Amino acid sequence: VTGAADSRAQALEVRLRRALADDVDFLAALEQDPEIEPFLAGSRARTRDELLLEVERSLAEPESRGRFLIEALAEGSWRPAGTIAFEGTNRRSSIAWLGGLAVAPAWRGRGIGVASMRMLAQLLFEQLGFHRLEAEVHAFNERGAHAAESAGFVREGVKRRAYWRHDRWQDSIVLGLLVEELSDSRAQAGIS
Ligand SMILES: CC(C)(COP(=O)(O)OP(=O)(O)OC[C@H]1O[C@@H](n2cnc3c(N)ncnc32)[C@H](O)[C@@H]1OP(=O)(O)O)[C@@H](O)C(=O)NCCC(=O)NCCS
Repeated sequence: VTGAADSRAQALEVRLRRALADDVDFLAALEQDPEIEPFLAGSRARTRDELLLEVERSLAEPESRGRFLIEALAEGSWRPAGTIAFEGTNRRSSIAWLGGLAVAPAWRGRGIGVASMRMLAQLLFEQLGFHRLEAEVHAFNERGAHAAESAGFVREGVKRRAYWRHDRWQDSIVLGLLVEELSDSRAQAGIS
């Protein structure tokens, strides 16, 4: 899936492709980056072995889970800029979790995170038939919550004292995006 990130500073082309075994070193470095790790779910895959398993499952069950590389076009070539994921969580009601998002610090603030969420939502709604996407961020992660809202997600509630993180119970914010809400966010993203 290809799209355009925010063009306030300069137009930036972004694409998503399924991660391969060769991408695991990049993914492991990203997950362990001190500017990324503190914001991630405590249970998220971090080690090389855990990430390799996740990549293999993404390739083996492409309709029910995915681990993607976010790539940005710079000086004529596609560069790894981050990662995003999904997992089907309720088959009967066609619900998927969208998350596992991280943008490398060097690429931040250029609309890549928002564009990636919109592109993955487009894939999940239009090609895989999901009707509702759910995302969740720690309440202390205002930047993550804001990025999800910019992508079109709506705040639906707060899970109080839900997760043990940074030596205390943390609230989490639950957000949702419905299939009929995608067209608005696509128009804003400039995705054709
Ligand atoms: C969250 C993250 C993915 C955003 O990536 P990004 O490419 O820099 O995001 P974008 O440039 O697309 O947009 C970020 C939005 O948040 C806003 N923002 C930036 N810092 C912020 C802050 N401290 N508080 C609130 N909003 C903030 C930006 O202004 C922008 O808003 P806009 O869409 O209204 O212009 C990136 O910061 C990251 O990888 N963080 C660590 C991991 C993480 O938190 N993942 C998400 C939860 S799992």
